[in-house]
Amino acid sequence: MTDKLQYDAMFSGVIGQDYELLNLICPLATEMSRLVGIAASEYAAQTTDKLSVVELGGGTGITTLSLLTASDKFNILSIDNEPVMQNQAEKHLHKWSAEGRLAFCGDDALTALKNISDDSVNIVASAYTLHNFLNSYRQEVIEEIFRILKPGGQFINGDRYGLDDISEHTHIIQNEVGGYFKVLTKINKLDVLEHWIVHLFSDESENHVMRETVALNQLSAIGFSDITLTHRLEVNALVTAMKPAL
Ligand SMILES: C[S@@+](CC[C@H](N)C(=O)[O-])C[C@H]1O[C@@H](n2cnc3c(N)ncnc32)[C@H](O)[C@@H]1O
Repeated sequence: MTDKLQYDAMFSGVIGQDYELLNLICPLATEMSRLVGIAASEYAAQTTDKLSVVELGGGTGITTLSLLTASDKFNILSIDNEPVMQNQAEKHLHKWSAEGRLAFCGDDALTALKNISDDSVNIVASAYTLHNFLNSYRQEVIEEIFRILKPGGQFINGDRYGLDDISEHTHIIQNEVGGYFKVLTKINKLDVLEHWIVHLFSDESENHVMRETVALNQLSAIGFSDITLTHRLEVNALVTAMKPAL
């Protein structure tokens, strides 16, 4: 069995059909969660201390599980303001919350971040969430992420980062839409297809889209250092950034 097959089997076991369906419709979305976990485990390898992690947009728990299995040093606060999603995560990840390694917050990301102290968190991690935010809200969220991180703390985000080349970006999105039709008509999930296409219009709208260079400049302007964008997979990529150590 390859690593990816083992990973998928483990996640299907814990998260169930939500993982299997997402993996079928948009395997790059589940891949972003896997990459967030790997980046977080690399950060954790540098210390023997327990680490506090804030997760934005935990959803049904896919990224949360990736973080929980990345390192047993993590204590995670998973934030999501959609109870239907978070209730599923609470059910799937009960074992970890019972062990005291995972807590949930149902506030929206900005409200939740504003309630966290300055310089108090080692990692802020997220997958497939920040692209949903309006640009103005995202600016405030990133300022808050910087504020709550400890010096030397890291922001890790696996997400949709639009290509600077808009023609190339449009071409990739057209292929993405084709893929949704192919997969979802085959399994006769036309309601899910409608939902994904409608949602894509929001993702692609000018007041939401996180264009690569703009997004990286935004992190730099707020004060982040060591900003990297790696693992570009179509319109998705992994971004990491550090709050400079004192
Ligand atoms: C596409 S899901 C990603 C879930 C998970 N991270 C993953 O990759 O599978 C985005 C999640 O962000 C949550 N979300 C969207 N806007 C939010 C906000 N302003 N505050 C908190 N959560 C938000 C949604 O409820 C949803 O569960």
